[in-house]
Amino acid sequence: MTLLTDIDRVRAEFDNRLAAAKAGKEDAEQLRHAFLGRKGRVAGLFAGLGKLTADERPAAGRLLNELKDHVAQCLDDLPAGAETGGGGEEEALDLTLPGDPVPLGSVHPVTQLQEQVKRIFMRLGFSIYYGPEVETEFYNFEALNFQPDHPARDMQDTFYVGENLLLRTHTSNNQIHAMQQMKPPLRILMPGRVFRNEAINARSHCQFHQIEGLVVDRNISMAELKGTMTHFARALYGPDTRTRFRPSYFPFTEPSAEMDIYWGLQTERDHRITKGTGWLEILGCGMVHPNVLRAVHVDPQEWTGYAFGMGLERMAMLKWDIGDIRYFYEGDLRFLRQF
Ligand code: DAH
Repeated sequence: MTLLTDIDRVRAEFDNRLAAAKAGKEDAEQLRHAFLGRKGRVAGLFAGLGKLTADERPAAGRLLNELKDHVAQCLDDLPAGAETGGGGEEEALDLTLPGDPVPLGSVHPVTQLQEQVKRIFMRLGFSIYYGPEVETEFYNFEALNFQPDHPARDMQDTFYVGENLLLRTHTSNNQIHAMQQMKPPLRILMPGRVFRNEAINARSHCQFHQIEGLVVDRNISMAELKGTMTHFARALYGPDTRTRFRPSYFPFTEPSAEMDIYWGLQTERDHRITKGTGWLEILGCGMVHPNVLRAVHVDPQEWTGYAFGMGLERMAMLKWDIGDIRYFYEGDLRFLRQF
């Protein structure tokens, strides 16, 4: 009966190759596959059982089962080093070794500052509102009281992406969306990314972030605006922060102002970024122009409001003493890891 000799032969072959696996010269997984796999040696022998007579079959079956158990047991008993295959002891899998470090990122400084500003205003009862980055002229200019041929439109070099479609040049567009969607009284903060077709240098970039604020209620005064902005500057930059308001012009506010905080004139760089004044402008603000309220069908006789807008990169540069706006967009880990 050739099946019995075949069983002996397969067993001898397995024992040989098992010895090789123990010496690291044979891959344990390959060995398992060759003998116990669906088309392996042992399965092949089982297929031969069908050709035996009914008398021969029980004894041969028992021997075959023994062989199968032997092979499985020996493979299970192989030391871990052999299981990894190929290399022998040096490549043994040591599960007690510490894992490879996973490099952790950090929160971008602009995002961090945005969160800080949000927290300050949320404590004052503001809620957060987001609007679109691709915008029509109506929301970016017209409803904000920029006349069609108003020279103020030239103040901002705009990226147009289509007929009457542009990348917003400021977050003031959100004022219009918000007032169309919600009735006053309103106290909202509107963070977002804005775009301007500007030359890139240490002080300006073609994309940056702003936070816009809008308050509309009965009897809102310029005094409330000033008090709120001053509180904000001190909450962010420290209780001793000096501020000043300069009259300014924006089409959507009247009167309008810009708030500066005192930066100092210690170093050459201080001179450069403050243009020799020691003061740095951090936001624009003013009382909401009646035309803006009319554009969204809010009665200026009944409601008044104030608005403000600030550039986050500029403020981050102040807060962390960063001399060049371009660092924010270069993705240099040596810069980002400092925050
Ligand atoms: N939108 C202005 C800008 O981008 C910033 C600004 C100024 C927003 C005054 C305001 C504001 O809401 O009242 O330069």
